[in-house]
This record gives sequence, structure tokens and C-alpha cells, in this order.
Amino acid sequence: MTLAQAESLLTDRDTIPQAEPLARRAIHVSGYEREGRDFYATPAWVTEALLKHVMFRGPIWEPCCGDGAMSSVLADKGYDVVSTDLVDRGFGTAGVDFLACRAVPGGCRSIVTNPPYGDTGSQKGQSRSPMAMLGFLRHAMALTDSVQGQLALLVRLQWIAGKRAADTLSAGPFSAVIVLTHRIRWFDMAERTNAAQHHHAWVVFDHRHPKGQPPALLYV
Ligand SMILES: C[S@@+](CC[C@H](N)C(=O)[O-])C[C@H]1O[C@@H](n2cnc3c(N)ncnc32)[C@H](O)[C@@H]1O
Repeated sequence: MTLAQAESLLTDRDTIPQAEPLARRAIHVSGYEREGRDFYATPAWVTEALLKHVMFRGPIWEPCCGDGAMSSVLADKGYDVVSTDLVDRGFGTAGVDFLACRAVPGGCRSIVTNPPYGDTGSQKGQSRSPMAMLGFLRHAMALTDSVQGQLALLVRLQWIAGKRAADTLSAGPFSAVIVLTHRIRWFDMAERTNAAQHHHAWVVFDHRHPKGQPPALLYV
């Protein structure tokens, strides 16, 4: 996708339900360093675990694609994938702020990503992390609702238990939670690579999920 095409994502605001006030911002290439602290490439097995349980209506948008770790697995499984990121990490279209986008790229029906957790890896920052994730989730739900699509986000398992997260998850077409029984070892966390302190899970939404039907609980 070219930057011009990416900018066109901002023009379709009338078709998107407003999940929360979203400032209209121009797409811009950020001043982030190339390897920002919110960048953790997801090991392939994590995306493969999702695809074992969920079949997506494609094409799929990976809006925080990083270096393409998830996009590559999705493409290997036969999906058409549109890859964008705020930061240029040498993959996909850079300079696209997901939170400023008002529509999914043309033709896309699903969003799959490991979003930024908003904590920049610091203990102090972790207090902001749940709200950052909630904002991301609400925005992604509104975008996928507009195409009756699907959404899969990789989150910390503990985050699901928070009151606000519970309210938001329950209000949406929550179709599955896929718990990863192995902890993820993030590749680029230097000396913290071996810590693996968090369990993670995929939360999956499908705007065609029957109303009132609870989400499936799956373990991988
Ligand atoms: C945790 S990394 C995940 C990368 C990739 N999804 C993966 O799983 O390998 C989060 C990515 O989100 C990107 N990002 C952060 N804020 C963003 C925003 N507002 N819009 C788009 N991408 C953003 C970062 O540049 C980073 O590459």
C-alpha cells in the first residue's frame, strides 16, 4: 500500500461508528527511533496458534506490523495481508497511525495484530498500559464493525481480568479467548529475554458472532 492509499483511510469517517472521541490527525512519519521500545516481534508459533483455531475472512490488515513477524505467518497460511505501522521497521507501509485511521484499507475484513501495550517496558509505565490497550481495542472494534469483520489481538492474560477490560470485552461480539500455555520469549528484550513473566492470550471478536453466545475458551 502506498502512503497516498494509506492517507485515504482517513477520508471515510462517516462510515465508522465512533467508539470514543478520536482526534483527526494527519498521517505522518514519526520521529520514533527505528527500534522503539514498544517494538517486540512476535514469535511465529504465537500466530500459528491463533490460525489453528480461527479462520479469518480476508484480506487481513496488520496495522502494527513491525518487521512483519505476524504478517509473514498470515501470508504463509495463504491470506492476503495489508501491513502498516507507525514506524518504519523495513516492512509494509510506514507512517500510518492506526488510531487516526477512520476505515480499514479497501477490501480488508479482519484485523490481526500484537498492538503496542503502551507501557514502554517500564514498571512505572505499566500503570498506563491497560488504558492504552482499551483505546486500541475500542478503535479496532469500531473499524471491524463497519465491515462486519473479525479482530484478533494478542494481549496479556492478566489484562482480560481488569474491570474496564471485562466491560468492553463483554459488550463486543467476543467469540474466543485463546490462552497460550507457554510464555512468550520476546526476542529483543536483551537481558530480560529469559524472564517471560507474562502469560498471553488472543482475544478474538467476530461481528457475525451470534448475540448472547459466550466466547469459546481454548488453550494452546
Ligand atoms: C509490540 S510491536 C508488534 C509488532 C508486530 N505486530 C508483531 O507482532 O511482531 C507493536 C508495533 O506497533 C507499532 N505502533 C505503535 N503505535 C502505533 C500506532 N499508533 N499505529 C500503528 N502502529 C503503531 C510499533 O511501531 C510496533 O512496531
